[in-house]
Formats: sequence, structure tokens, C-alpha cells
Amino acid sequence: MAMIDELLAGLRAAGEETRLRLLFILSRGEFNVSELTTILGQSQPRVSRHLKLMVEAGLIQRYREGAWMLFRISTSSGNAELARSLIRFMADDDPQVARDLERIAQVKAQRQADAQAYFAENAENWTAIRAYHVAEEKTEEAIRELVGDVHVDRYVDLGTGTGRMLEMFAPLADEAVGVDLSREMLSFARANLGQAGLDHVQVRQGDISGLTLQDASADLVTLHQVLHFLADPAKAIAEAVRLLKPGGRLVVADFASHDLEFLREQFAHRRLGIAHYDMTSWAKAAGAKVTKHEQLSPPAHLAQEGLAVAFWVIEKA
Ligand SMILES: C[S@@+](CC[C@H](N)C(=O)[O-])C[C@H]1O[C@@H](n2cnc3c(N)ncnc32)[C@H](O)[C@@H]1O
Repeated sequence: MAMIDELLAGLRAAGEETRLRLLFILSRGEFNVSELTTILGQSQPRVSRHLKLMVEAGLIQRYREGAWMLFRISTSSGNAELARSLIRFMADDDPQVARDLERIAQVKAQRQADAQAYFAENAENWTAIRAYHVAEEKTEEAIRELVGDVHVDRYVDLGTGTGRMLEMFAPLADEAVGVDLSREMLSFARANLGQAGLDHVQVRQGDISGLTLQDASADLVTLHQVLHFLADPAKAIAEAVRLLKPGGRLVVADFASHDLEFLREQFAHRRLGIAHYDMTSWAKAAGAKVTKHEQLSPPAHLAQEGLAVAFWVIEKA
């Protein structure tokens, strides 16, 4: 809720055609200034001026991701509710809104194409590693079982990559956030989520070992195939546990300990899988405990050459 002064500032900032359009556009996802310029068909300085006014009035939020400045509807200011209410008043069949929707779709399709180009360059790595472990559908099935289908208020996916976990579990949540270090991966995630119509999901750049997300704010946190890239996985577990609300759950999936040394040189793995013993002690050090542990063996024909995938559910002690 807003104080009267704040509400008036919000109403003034919203009471203009381009700014109302901006509210509507940002209700359909996060966009950078150049994408907003394309959708609105106006010059960058004009668009930037509107955005600045709306940020100051607390209707929208701005955040930096590398060289990009991204915008989204406010979630925390006094005028966040005003922004959401105004959007509800805008009819999808208004001619201007309909044109904006078309341009939004074009911008999202362009993102998808750009991200695909990046993915294509790296796909070789991903496909090569896939050959060493159990089929991805099986891994996803196991995680789905562990997560269950209960509704959650807030879901956080750490090391979100292409956003697959968000695609799977954001539909369970009122709010969902994905964090990744890599801007290219985030572009891909954003494109995928846009395509899947998951407009309530935010992705942002950040380092797992020092997150800016609030303590005790999430009911569900996932870490899927991320820990083996990290120099200090204990720190990542501590950060993930810090985010959990009392009663919240952290679900981790990663390779079990293995000795395929070439994954270090060829695929930038820092650790050769994660030992159950280590996970138990990292959880304990973070003030939590492992409440479930499962493992999926590699395909039988690979024998010693395969990778087992392990799963852990961690809850605050
Ligand atoms: C193999 S991908 C897994 C992606 C995703 N979790 C999934 O299930 O598809 C690992 C991801 O971890 C990210 N990552 C690596 N180190 C990170 C860090 N310190 N902070 C945030 N993300 C990180 C990488 O950029 C990459 O997107």
C-alpha cells in the first residue's frame, strides 16, 4: 500500500499514453531499453525519459545485467499494487494494445533466434556430456517426484542456465526467480520462458556465492547441475539455505562422485561430482539437514565410464 503522496506520484507518472503502454508491455515480461524502443516505435531518449519517471514513481524497477539495463513491473514499492491494478484495466483488444502485443511477440521471437545461435555454438558440449548419464527425462522425472506438485509462494532456481527448472516448477509458484552468472544463458532462459508464456518469472544475473536475494524468502529452491562448476559448493549450499523460509525445501541434483577427469579439461567442471558425505556436511554447516537422498545409475552399457546423477532434499534443521 502507498502513502497519499506516493500514490499521487504513481498516478501522475502513469497518466500518459506511452507510460500506460509501458506498464502493459512490462506485464508481459522483462525487456531492455532497445527492445522497448522497438516495441513502442519511439526514440531511445524518449523511452528512457518515460522509464526514468516510472522508476522514480515506483511503478517499475530497473536492474543491471552486465552492459544491459532491464526493466520490469515493481514488486516491492508502495506503488507496485497500483501498477498491477492499472494493467488489469487495459483491454487486450484495444487497437494500440493489440499492436504492442504483436511487436512483443516479434521481439521475443528475435530473442529466441539470438539465443538459439548461442546455444547452437555450445550444443556440442551439452550433447557430449549427455551421452554419459541417464536420459534427461528420467532425471526430470526424479526431480518432479521430489518437488511434488504443491503450490508455493516463491520459488528460486540457482544457476538457471536455459531456464529448464523454471519451466518445470514456476507454474507451481506465485513468484519465481532464476539466477545465473552468464548473460548468454539468461538470454536463452528469457527466450524460453517467454515462449512458454511464463511471464511471471524473472531471471537475473548474479553469483550463487553472494546472492542479493532476501533471507527466508523462498519456499522452494533448486540447484540443478550447477555445483560441479563451483569452486566453493559449500558456500552455494549456505546461500541456498539462507533463502529458505522455515519449512522451505532445497532440492539439489548433480553428478555423484566420479573419476572422469576429462570433464575438468574439456567441460570446465571444477569437481568430479558431489559426494553424499560432502553434501551432508555442507548442509549441516549451513544449519540444515539432508532429508532425502537418491541416485540414478548411468546406463548399464557405460559401466565404469558413466555418470550417476544424485538428488538431495535439504531442509532447515
Ligand atoms: C549445466 S548448466 C545447468 C543449468 C540449469 N540449472 C539446468 O538445469 O538446465 C550450469 C549453469 O550454472 C551457471 N553458473 C556457474 N557458476 C555460477 C555461479 N557462480 N553463479 C551463478 N550461476 C553459475 C552457468 O552459467 C550455467 O548456466
